[in-house]
Amino acid sequence: MRLKLVAGNWKMHGGIERNRDLLSIVVSGTAGLQKAACAVCVPYPYLSQVQSLLKNTHVSWGAQNISQHDMGAYTGEVSADMLTDFCCYYVIVGHSERRTLYGENSRTVSLKFKVAQDAGLVPILCVGETLEQREAGFTEQVVREQLDAVIGLVGVDALARSVLAYEPIWAIGTGKTATPQQAQDVHVFIRNIVASYNVKVAAELRILYGGSVKASNAAELFAMLDIDGGLIGGASLVAEEFISICLAAQN
Ligand code: PGA
Repeated sequence: MRLKLVAGNWKMHGGIERNRDLLSIVVSGTAGLQKAACAVCVPYPYLSQVQSLLKNTHVSWGAQNISQHDMGAYTGEVSADMLTDFCCYYVIVGHSERRTLYGENSRTVSLKFKVAQDAGLVPILCVGETLEQREAGFTEQVVREQLDAVIGLVGVDALARSVLAYEPIWAIGTGKTATPQQAQDVHVFIRNIVASYNVKVAAELRILYGGSVKASNAAELFAMLDIDGGLIGGASLVAEEFISICLAAQN
């Protein structure tokens, strides 16, 4: 039985006061959560604050990106060791905004996945297609290429210490959610790829859905057999929304 995970992706949002208010409501509102896990991935400058607010709570924290390099002359980058200094548990790698706006390709994403794992972090690997790719019938090809790049570098067993997130780009921040069946189909496709290498890893792998998940649609998405939770952007910034989504994950 896979424990569902709801992870907030704050993107470039937040502020010292706002974070404090949001997290105190989220922590108390999800206190009864037993059959699901909950996390927030926050901007780097707030890691220290979030660490002190969330330590000794049931809410985990992480970052949204990581450098593929260990250290050195990489202005503006943040290494795996820096994230572990703040006791991050998760780090998102390969989010579509990183791929499309910052030119990260599948090779870069795989390297990031590897450095994260080598440092003991749990990568949340995002994969997903654009609307044009979906309409042209290339969804499976795109997702397979993104996944194969990682499996090719680290091997399939490494996926056991990671989380996957299927995020169709056309559903991110657009208010347009994939239907539960559309998401389920891709999740099964992903799980089958992994199962073709290792059935046990595939059975235990958590595959989150991301893309306009809200309190109003979370339950129907999470009811699908292969949807093991969500990666939540906009709705993770609204305490009541995020709490409802977390609670929907345990039903
Ligand atoms: P959204 O973002 O929930 O705002 O669509 C999801 C994501 O980008 O992870």
